[in-house]
Amino acid sequence: MEAVTCADTTIRMETWRTEDRQVNCILSAKCDAPISNYTLCFSMLAPCEVVEGATSKKITAGYIELGFDRDVLGTGQALAFTLKYKRNMNPSNRSWLPKGAYLRLEDGSILPVQIAPRGIDQAFSTKLPEQQADPSSDELMLVPAPQSWKPSGNQLDVSAGFKLDRSWEGDGETDSAASVEALAERNNIGPFLHEDGVILRFAINEDLAEDAYELTITPEGITLSASAAAGAFYGAITLLNLKLIYGGTIPCGHIADAPRFEWRGQHLDCARHYYEPETLLRLVDMMALFKLNRFHWHFCDDEAFRLEVESYPELWKKSGMRGEGRIVPGIYGAADGPQGGTYSIAFAKRLVAHAKELNIEILPEIEVPAHSWAVLQIHPELRDAADESGEISVHGYLNNTINPALPEAWTYMEALAREISGIFPFSHLHLGCDERPPAAWTKSPTIDKLKAEQGLKTADDVQGWMMDKLASYVRALGVRPAAWEEAAKGANGGINNNAILFSWTQQGPGLEAARKGYSVVMTPAAHAYWDIAPSSNFNEIGLNWAGITSLADSVNWDPVPENEPELEGKIIGAQGCLWSEVVLRDANMETMMAPRILGISEIGWAARANKPDAETITQKAACYSKLFSAIGWRQDVRD
Ligand code: ACM
Repeated sequence: MEAVTCADTTIRMETWRTEDRQVNCILSAKCDAPISNYTLCFSMLAPCEVVEGATSKKITAGYIELGFDRDVLGTGQALAFTLKYKRNMNPSNRSWLPKGAYLRLEDGSILPVQIAPRGIDQAFSTKLPEQQADPSSDELMLVPAPQSWKPSGNQLDVSAGFKLDRSWEGDGETDSAASVEALAERNNIGPFLHEDGVILRFAINEDLAEDAYELTITPEGITLSASAAAGAFYGAITLLNLKLIYGGTIPCGHIADAPRFEWRGQHLDCARHYYEPETLLRLVDMMALFKLNRFHWHFCDDEAFRLEVESYPELWKKSGMRGEGRIVPGIYGAADGPQGGTYSIAFAKRLVAHAKELNIEILPEIEVPAHSWAVLQIHPELRDAADESGEISVHGYLNNTINPALPEAWTYMEALAREISGIFPFSHLHLGCDERPPAAWTKSPTIDKLKAEQGLKTADDVQGWMMDKLASYVRALGVRPAAWEEAAKGANGGINNNAILFSWTQQGPGLEAARKGYSVVMTPAAHAYWDIAPSSNFNEIGLNWAGITSLADSVNWDPVPENEPELEGKIIGAQGCLWSEVVLRDANMETMMAPRILGISEIGWAARANKPDAETITQKAACYSKLFSAIGWRQDVRD
């Protein structure tokens, strides 16, 4: 048989969802010669099984390799096969169809496969029509809503920008205006400061809290009062927002504002998808426009460890890129790759400095003990060789959990904690503790010994002991530990050590932790996970385990129950999260965040009484649609 080459071959895979939650595929090829002895490789969003038409040869989480009984490709015939998601998962939208397909021939050569999904409407759009806010209306379209707004009925033309009153010589506040000017310029939404602009006077008001500000906008000019650089920064951000959403002529009046919560976060999963460094800088800029102040950087998970740490360089060198022949195969659409990347320490420091200019601190995360599949492929010594637990994670990874009974595990965790917290001056470190598979540590001789020595009964007790020990190590470095909600488990009360817990499945675990005295950040999936699809339309991208998360859902909740006001001080804030299983390219991030990020801005900042309802947030989102377009933030990129 003649060898085939890519040049004379077109291989196609049609894919569609069936009524009964299955995924049908038809593989066909046009080429000069038949293709034989091939393996079809591609990725699904989660583990699948073959219903008929093919044989599964290898599965790593959602990545799958299939073989076929008949060598018909290139003969004018097609191969039909059917898959179904395990655990009866529903392929509810386009994200659930196969991605990144290719053929591997017997000699190792690769042939690309074009995927042709059926049932996608290429004209599908959810971008809201761009609307200009009306300066004659008493309702202020600003996101987040300020604590107080008293319109005076006048209007002011600020289209030329703002002229700083230089007679006042406070250095911090002057820097704040310069930061907003630089932000506006690099995002093409300037001018903010301009010689021909409206007079902007700064005034110190020591009675205001650090993040608080007041703005008096009159036809003659503007006064911005604050006690510190942070408040001045937020006041300036408000002016930039008003200028944009009102199209240059803003309503006059008095704004008094301060955030409801200290923690107003946005998380990004850079492990499942590698985002270009430039994209992270852009995200931090966008967060600043919405007065968010914490970036939670998730750079390692089962699929990759992307920060170029010196202590364990093999981690990122071997897991940064995925695809054919790599440790991590072509998961989440990577095909034969190589696809991915890593972040240098120099870039991490640049991101820290960039964020600091915008009053944003960075919380780095290391994921232990679970979500460590790639780490364990590279450093198998972090797992007990005699461990027969055979745990399978919710994402479908086998044996993804580090073993805290081993000295090597402590060398690893402490070295990472030490090095990484040294890079991020915020002095907070998120330790993960997410989704340990229930079977983990159940058949490990070293864990059994640890349990006997430490008087631990269950795997949750082992986890509580481990998190407490690691958190106390971190605390001794002068760093505040943080973790996902599961870290409260264990007979010892969990992680302890003044840790911050992130409540993600719902608010319940966070409320329980807050009642026990933990500080809590609320990030409930049904309201704040931007990877959950925004609607049930098949053309959307997104997961569905938490239902759907619409724009209205993003504001229709309260971090603190009204009937438990005593938790106000314990629930320190709210955060949006974007996990990247459904992200195929950086611009998908923009479409998944906009406009729902408006919701977390309102939740984190606005007073309970001022939080917009579904109708108001939709009107505001239409005004901000213009802002997103202006900064080049794409609201309609799904493939
Ligand atoms: C999570 O979403 N598993 C923290």
